[in-house]
Amino acid sequence: MKAMVIDRYGSVPMRLADMPIPEINEYEVLAEIHAASVNPIDFKIRDGKVKMLVKYKMPLILGNDFSGVVAKVGAKVTRFKVGDEIYARPRKSNIGTFAEYISIHENDIALKPKNLSFEEAASIPLVGLTSYQALHEIMQLQKGQKILIQAGAGGVGTFAIQLAKLMGATVATTTSETSTNLVKSLGADEIINYKIEKFEDRLKNYDAVFDTLGDKILEKSFEVIKPGGKIVSISGLPNAHFAKEYGSGFFKTMLFSIASNKLTALEKKHNVQYTFLFMKPSGDQLRIITNFIESGKIKPVIDRVFSFKDAQKAIEYSESGRAKGKIIIKVR
Ligand SMILES: NC(=O)c1ccc[n+]([C@@H]2O[C@H](COP(=O)([O-])OP(=O)(O)OC[C@H]3O[C@@H](n4cnc5c(N)ncnc54)[C@H](OP(=O)(O)O)[C@@H]3O)[C@@H](O)[C@H]2O)c1
Repeated sequence: MKAMVIDRYGSVPMRLADMPIPEINEYEVLAEIHAASVNPIDFKIRDGKVKMLVKYKMPLILGNDFSGVVAKVGAKVTRFKVGDEIYARPRKSNIGTFAEYISIHENDIALKPKNLSFEEAASIPLVGLTSYQALHEIMQLQKGQKILIQAGAGGVGTFAIQLAKLMGATVATTTSETSTNLVKSLGADEIINYKIEKFEDRLKNYDAVFDTLGDKILEKSFEVIKPGGKIVSISGLPNAHFAKEYGSGFFKTMLFSIASNKLTALEKKHNVQYTFLFMKPSGDQLRIITNFIESGKIKPVIDRVFSFKDAQKAIEYSESGRAKGKIIIKVR
């Protein structure tokens, strides 16, 4: 099958390779991939930045979510049959959606929303699950609460704004002027142009912050939260709590604990809860998201669709950091 691979970690372009069609075990399906989305984790994996959390064998097919059609099912698969239209984020040990086929555990899959094309459906799994796990599982965001969502125009931000509105929250978000209309159309109540205004000067007493940017922006986010509030970051530093939950050994737990020292101090100073989230695949949660989409409550936001042969250009566009919504690679 055709696949986009890397042969080693580092900032080198993917190459088009002929790879074997994956074997499936009894709990897996073989999916024929129609479209995949690009996520910043693709180039972070390529650069070796996720090595502390997951290690891959080379050559490695990149790509972390997709939509497609079930081509084969394992003997113990109960939920899916050949011909089903599906979408999913495969587990981290088994990525590789920039390819014609992938083997994937049935627990990680959901039926594709009926009202979306394959390209639209591929835009959802990774950012949808990330937002759901942050806002629902960890923050347990309540109706009437106020949340700041950093980088509202990005792939995660465009989904998270819609989810927070659906949960009844008041949403503030940061964006540059070029995306003001986009985030407004998604329901953002307070829009801060980060190029001319500091969010920490304008927002106070927020219940929650969903941080997608990390570093200084994450540190400043502690200033807008009220005591007892929650900050979830997907770009900040993992802390000791995360390391324990993730099953990291003693050495890595110590390392994360030392690296996140400053965040732990801010957590205590402001009396808020800081959580680093490394999202997980989940077919069950994707089915909830499918309902939101089929009922028209959440819509995909797509910036550009690239052909498979232009997959490298798609990654480069993602690396520019300027995408508005999602970048898609059309595989078939
Ligand atoms: N830990 C996890 O499980 C997990 C899961 C998903 C994503 N992530 C991480 O989360 C981050 C965001 O992912 P994404 O898919 O949303 O990325 P993305 O789509 O590439 O984000 C691009 C957007 O970020 C905006 N942006 C850049 N700098 C900004 C700033 N200083 N303030 C406000 N907006 C800014 C840009 O808006 P302008 O053009 O207007 O500047 C652009 O629209 C990535 O680092 C990704 O790796 C982690």
